[in-house]
Amino acid sequence: MAKSSNHFIAFLMIFYYWICGILLFFVPKSLRFKSVKDKLVLITGGGSGLGRALAIRFAKRGANVIVWDINKSGLDETVELVRAANPEVKVGSYVCDITDRHLVYETAAKVKRDVSAIDILVNNAGVVSGKNLMDIPDEKIIQTFQVNAISHFWTVKAVLPDMMAANSGHIVSIASVAGSTGGCQLTDYCASKFAAVGFEESLRYELINANKLGVKSTVVLPYFINTGMFAGFKSPILPALEPDYVADQIMAGVLTDAEYVAVPRICYTLNTLKTILPVKAFYKVYEVLGGYHVMEDFVGREGTQHNNNYVNNNNNRKVK
Ligand SMILES: NC(=O)c1ccc[n+]([C@@H]2O[C@H](COP(=O)([O-])OP(=O)(O)OC[C@H]3O[C@@H](n4cnc5c(N)ncnc54)[C@H](O)[C@@H]3O)[C@@H](O)[C@H]2O)c1
Ligand SMILES: *[C@@H]1O[C@H](CO)[C@@H](O)[C@H](O)[C@H]1NC(C)=O
Repeated sequence: MAKSSNHFIAFLMIFYYWICGILLFFVPKSLRFKSVKDKLVLITGGGSGLGRALAIRFAKRGANVIVWDINKSGLDETVELVRAANPEVKVGSYVCDITDRHLVYETAAKVKRDVSAIDILVNNAGVVSGKNLMDIPDEKIIQTFQVNAISHFWTVKAVLPDMMAANSGHIVSIASVAGSTGGCQLTDYCASKFAAVGFEESLRYELINANKLGVKSTVVLPYFINTGMFAGFKSPILPALEPDYVADQIMAGVLTDAEYVAVPRICYTLNTLKTILPVKAFYKVYEVLGGYHVMEDFVGREGTQHNNNYVNNNNNRKVK
């Protein structure tokens, strides 16, 4: 009896949240922004692109900012830009390779000694190989997983105890639409982003189960962004996004405690399409979006290799 009435309440709550979701869609997000003033934000991969754009935005809202990266000159530039954006806030940078878990724990402890405990963690650092499976060196596959997914275990383990104790904090993970759907020349990238999404979703259930509802989490699923990371990609239908636009959308999501932020909005439908369409019909959607060709001319950050692997592979096969 008690059990079935619990189920009935759960059923009502599902409707309640559904209606709330629909109504909130019409309320400007900015009316619901939380304050991050005087909070300490740690951003991995903060020496470039999206991480840098987020650092500047958090600082403008009065948050103190710590950036980690492997690129020292990138970090220095970010620190200057953050200082220029808001001279009032504290800003610090640490060279830290997040694939080294001992270094992650050490550096997190150093930040705590130097400044304070972290209030907001942004798992942003990422890498991409951009090649067909057989052309990706094994070491590169491992590195992609380490940076894009496994590092989240270390960074989160480093900051979670303080967040749990205070029942307050926020963990933001920059995944990708590549964490919703696979793609050509993206086996390691998509698999690592799916992993990041799975990690993030599971962590959220654990936080709910531990009744730590004060610790928020946001997973971000952006489409291609013009940061240079994906240099050479082609996108015939959906235009590539500007880092400033994506950073604004991410901030709006974080400041309203949104669990998911897909940029552009249409990307929210990918998971739905995948489940309601017959599989072969979804392949057609992928084809229409240019999926088979987006990565053909990819050069990425390394920029030198002429990436025409798909064609080369076919040729190789013919020769053999
Ligand atoms: N650019 C896109 O099209 C796109 C699309 C969707 C998602 N994303 C994701 O957004 C995030 C930011 O990407 P971006 O476009 O700003 O790329 P970016 O290359 O400009 O920045 C990534 C930063 O991560 C740093 N980094 C790499 N390996 C590291 C390591 N081991 N330890 C510490 N730092 C390391 C790099 O030095 C770089 O500064 C990534 O997770 C990326 O996968 C990017
Ligand atoms: C490091 O950052 C600097 C400054 O932003 C940039 O010019 C350089 O290309 C980056 N190096 C790498 C390897 O990404």
